[in-house]
Amino acid sequence: MDSGAAKGLAFGGVIAVRLLPALVLGPLAGVMADRWDRRYTMVVCDLLRFVLFASIPTVVLFSDDPVVGVGWAAIATFLIESITLIWLPAKEAAVPNLIPRARLEASNQLTLVTTYGITPVLAALLLAGLNQLNASLSDVGVQWAAWATPSSLALYFNALSRLATALVVFFGIREISGHNGKNHKSDSMIRQFVDGWRFVGKTPLVRGLVFGILGAFAAGGVVIGTANFFAGELNGGDSTFAILFATIFVGLGLGIALGPRMIGALSRRRWFGLSIILAAGSVALLALATHLSVAVACTLLVGVGAGMAFLSGTTLLGGEVEDDVRGRVFAVVQTGTRVILMLAISLSGLLVGVGGSRAVAGTGLSISSTRVLLGVAGVLGVAAGLWAFRQMDDKPGVPVFADLFSSMRGRPLGIPEPVTGGVFIVFEGGEGAGKSTQIQHLAAVLTAQGREVIVTREPGATEVGSRIRRMVLETNTGQSGPALAPRAEALLYAADRAHHVSTVVRPALLRGAIVISDRYVDSSLAYQGAGRSLAVDEVQWLSAWATGGLKPHLVVLLDIDPSVGLARAQLRGSPDRLERESIDFHERVRQGFLDLALAEPNRYLVLDATKDEKELAEAISDRVGAILPPLPEPKPANRRVREAAMS
Ligand code: TYD
Repeated sequence: MDSGAAKGLAFGGVIAVRLLPALVLGPLAGVMADRWDRRYTMVVCDLLRFVLFASIPTVVLFSDDPVVGVGWAAIATFLIESITLIWLPAKEAAVPNLIPRARLEASNQLTLVTTYGITPVLAALLLAGLNQLNASLSDVGVQWAAWATPSSLALYFNALSRLATALVVFFGIREISGHNGKNHKSDSMIRQFVDGWRFVGKTPLVRGLVFGILGAFAAGGVVIGTANFFAGELNGGDSTFAILFATIFVGLGLGIALGPRMIGALSRRRWFGLSIILAAGSVALLALATHLSVAVACTLLVGVGAGMAFLSGTTLLGGEVEDDVRGRVFAVVQTGTRVILMLAISLSGLLVGVGGSRAVAGTGLSISSTRVLLGVAGVLGVAAGLWAFRQMDDKPGVPVFADLFSSMRGRPLGIPEPVTGGVFIVFEGGEGAGKSTQIQHLAAVLTAQGREVIVTREPGATEVGSRIRRMVLETNTGQSGPALAPRAEALLYAADRAHHVSTVVRPALLRGAIVISDRYVDSSLAYQGAGRSLAVDEVQWLSAWATGGLKPHLVVLLDIDPSVGLARAQLRGSPDRLERESIDFHERVRQGFLDLALAEPNRYLVLDATKDEKELAEAISDRVGAILPPLPEPKPANRRVREAAMS
């Protein structure tokens, strides 16, 4: 056998041995967590770990042969790791039963930050402190007792903390036992195991979660496996490696600690997918980084994304997976992540070692296997994230980034209620723009084509609406007291709209009718937003909530100079509350409408309202004609009659 093959075999052997416990015990642990009383599983595991931890320094102390001590330490560590594999799914599956669902995220945040952030740091500090003490004591000639060296103390401490956990769980947290009587003990263990996998494979949310988590761990493993080589590529050495490594953990901590506050009210399912995409995308960018500062920024984002994915993934698994399969699902994740992480770290290390770097002919660039590997891992990770996102998205059809930015400010976008069939056309414009006249023209044309047309308006198309209309538009003549507050005005228009959409517009659209409304959401954005200077996006959110996200297919904006329009409107009679506003107010309203049209030109037809009435009517019916579905074929019976008449 040549040495390369031997190395490969040895390597494979080492990996197999390291993975074996996870592969064997992981699946078993899941079934155990779902089948048996989780409290007893945890207590037995912790008592065993108590004995094993305590045995390591004790055996070292009492055996004369150092080989025995070291050997037992290795065996005990292996056993402890194996028992932990059984303990974890039981614990993870129990936690969601003890904590109200709304608190689960905060609780996970705390657990993850303490487990991965604070505990290792505290442990390291404690050990460093003890060592320091050791050194100073031996300087002054004081010897530690043989049983109380720093490392023995640490192990005894570990042992006692396991004992404490066992006692607390056994006597203090009896609720852990609860299975709601659904532990399916009558099924065989193998059957339960197979059912667990089937559940993961069949449930889109869980499938997406598991796949996303595994993708993230694979990408993370490649980063860790190549970090050393990558540090070399940046012309750095051990310190560069240390910086990158530390940055990942800083990012993880930041993502876990600050993530929820940053994303606000975003759907946690969407957050999970986006976090995976962020982490993996940053790995892909890392592949291109040639400067340490860029590499540090990318690495930080890898950490932030991974931390957020970790937190949201754990919370979703805990909160949305039923108790009776939860242990198995956690076990699949636990086993999967271990296997993937280990494989990714070692395989990427191996591949990079073999690859080296090559110059790309004629470009002066050099491509190294490290970068290729990072790039591929990043791209595959992004694909896994996208796939996971699609599997578990709870707001399909809602634009992702708009939702994200809106959620960051505490106002997640609503899920649009479906409309099928009908066409929704809205006329907008300032006072005296001539909307009513044009609406009549259009309605006449469409009705003549044999279509069902509903003409309506805001505010005041319904009985409730007309009461609201009086509240907003009637001038408070003869009354003293403040004018209607801008926010109250916005809410009243929104209330009218909510009722109007739900009782008039949506039912008509569902029937397949053409709905023409004199004013809609844009009036609120222009009058209450631009005119009254409320934040336009807040008014937008309010309207979107009121309408369940219903948007018009086309907005016809009749644009007019307010001085001309108001003069026209005055001919109609005494001005309402809004018509009496200053010319500046109406200027802002006009600009507000034009800005909206500019932002979405495809959905708007902007016309100069001073043009000839007929010319305007033609332009409008042309444009509307282009978006209407073709008229239904005349009924066969009619055709036969017509054909008969022609022959
Ligand atoms: P209306 O008499 O229907 O007038 P117009 O012929 O101008 O449509 O009055 C509606 C008034 O309400 C108008 O001045 C615009 C205002 N308005 C808002 O301020 N916000 C809104 O959301 C809506 C629908 C109308």
